[in-house]
Amino acid sequence: MNDPARTGRTNEPAFDAAFRAQLHSLFAWRRDVRRFRPDPLGEGIVERLVQAASLAPAVGLIQPWRFVTVDSSVRRGAIIASFKRMAIDTLARNVRTDLGTVLHLELAALREAPVHLAAFCDLSTTEVSPTMLEVATAMAVNTLWLDAHAYGIGVGWISMLEPDALTQALDVPKDWRYVGYFCIGYPADEPTEVQHEFETQEETAAQILRR
Ligand SMILES: Cc1cc2nc3c(=O)[nH]c(=O)nc-3n(C[C@H](O)[C@H](O)[C@H](O)COP(=O)(O)O)c2cc1C
Repeated sequence: MNDPARTGRTNEPAFDAAFRAQLHSLFAWRRDVRRFRPDPLGEGIVERLVQAASLAPAVGLIQPWRFVTVDSSVRRGAIIASFKRMAIDTLARNVRTDLGTVLHLELAALREAPVHLAAFCDLSTTEVSPTMLEVATAMAVNTLWLDAHAYGIGVGWISMLEPDALTQALDVPKDWRYVGYFCIGYPADEPTEVQHEFETQEETAAQILRR
């Protein structure tokens, strides 16, 4: 009952100030990783990440997220080909000067990351709005992303892929909608501290509209 590591209400652990500070650091230091060491992840690590993802909230406890590990070099080749087609098209239209560098890093990530993981949302549950199912899937991805970072594992989000080509390349059920594609592995670089746009209290206040 008086165990300081428990809240006293249930079996829920008490989250103390030190834990909260660490949790905040996890939020602040999680990065989108684009350069990976080729070393494989240990046995069972992808499964553990997916288990953590599955703790995310979902409407009506429906867990609509589905994950696909992409191990086949042929399928990875199809993904990379899709990325290249979109990159060429985007470069032709976009004037952002650093875009070439970003795309180059993303291509390197696709070639070097030991794990490729695609996230889909199962839309076969017709009583729930597809948007809610997709939002829940994005929350699961965020949980996975944070859990990975806590273990020193990097995740990089690659969104420049053709949903149809990807769905076809991975041969998934027809009710699955593509949500995101992730390169996962140990980061090649030290994490950098990033100044997010709404980091200070004043900046955050500007994000909140009061009515
Ligand atoms: C929905 C979504 C899509 C993203 N797509 C890409 C992408 O295609 N390529 C990329 O390099 N990063 C992508 N990112 C990562 C963001 O660029 C990154 O989170 C942002 O720059 C902030 O950096 P940080 O995650 O290291 O804090 C994506 C992130 C989200 C949430």
